[in-house]
Amino acid sequence: MQEPKQRKAGQKIGIVGGGLMGHGIAYLFAAAGHNVGVFEPAAELRASLPQRLRAIADLLDDDPAFIGRIAAHDALAPALQDAAFVFEAAPEKLPLKQQIFAEIEQLVAPDTILASNSSAIPSTEIGRHLAHRERVIGTHFWNPPHLVPLVEVVQNEKTGDDVVRRTMALLRDAGKTPVHVRRDVPGFVGNRLQHAMKREAIALVAAGVCDAETVDIVVREGFGARTAVLGPMEQSDLVGLNLTLDIAEVLYAHLDRTPGPHPFLRDKVDSGKLGMKTGEGLRTWTPEAAEAVRERLSRFLAEQAKARRKNAASAGRAV
Ligand SMILES: NC(=O)c1ccc[n+]([C@@H]2O[C@H](COP(=O)([O-])OP(=O)(O)OC[C@H]3O[C@@H](n4cnc5c(N)ncnc54)[C@H](O)[C@@H]3O)[C@@H](O)[C@H]2O)c1
Repeated sequence: MQEPKQRKAGQKIGIVGGGLMGHGIAYLFAAAGHNVGVFEPAAELRASLPQRLRAIADLLDDDPAFIGRIAAHDALAPALQDAAFVFEAAPEKLPLKQQIFAEIEQLVAPDTILASNSSAIPSTEIGRHLAHRERVIGTHFWNPPHLVPLVEVVQNEKTGDDVVRRTMALLRDAGKTPVHVRRDVPGFVGNRLQHAMKREAIALVAAGVCDAETVDIVVREGFGARTAVLGPMEQSDLVGLNLTLDIAEVLYAHLDRTPGPHPFLRDKVDSGKLGMKTGEGLRTWTPEAAEAVRERLSRFLAEQAKARRKNAASAGRAV
């Protein structure tokens, strides 16, 4: 695909929703040299935005000066003024997102790209009632968006090819790893893969094959130890597809096929065992143990992000 002509930095990016995802997305575009307007209706979240952005700068050892390129607003219009792109990161409710997109359409230029960060709602549905559906696209960032490189750029049945190209170029120039998902399928690619594994993991624990901690060790210390540098398709080609087929012939008949969510998971939720926030889920958690996991994850992702930027800088690539 040929790269479209587009200014690499200094564009206006509008963000709708300054919560968990919105503030990280705002940060990464400001770090890439863009001016960012964030519409956040909750006063306390607007007030805490600078401090949340500074925490990211601290984590990444960044000069916090560019946080000055991000402005928080209590109304949509000023946040989106002159925006070349709008990224919506509002709560995961279809009627709300449809209403937000209808309002956005009245405020922006005809060629402004409107992207939703929804994890599960198809952008086809979010943009269904708009006049210009060709500029609506899904951009599924992963949490935390300023640390995880992947963004799934999801083309729906109406999205224009040029809109895909411009969105991919913007994200790539901001140091992200965008991938083009050609159909707006539920869960896109990443969550389908992640939940296929969780489905099997829960079934194994429910059947008493091993405990939940063992599943985590098997993944982290086993195939997970190489997953960051070896994807499942290249791993299959590495060992040979004949071996992959032989294993599939023996194994697939034994994999979980419970229709819908496993009763083991449903029972946990029904009995209030929601995970770290309630002290018990699939595993049991003290507040200290839960904090240690969050700290381990954050530090690991930050180190990875810093190493990527260092490598990109030494290779002369923009980050
Ligand atoms: N949290 C994740 O791990 C994750 C990952 C990928 C995608 N997503 C998606 O990103 C979106 C945002 O999720 P989040 O985790 O940041 O949620 P969040 O609750 O942290 O943030 C949502 C923000 O939207 C604000 N908001 C409420 N009504 C609004 C309105 N009418 N207009 C604009 N903003 C409004 C809220 O005040 C809040 O600050 C959701 O669609 C979610 O599915 C979340």
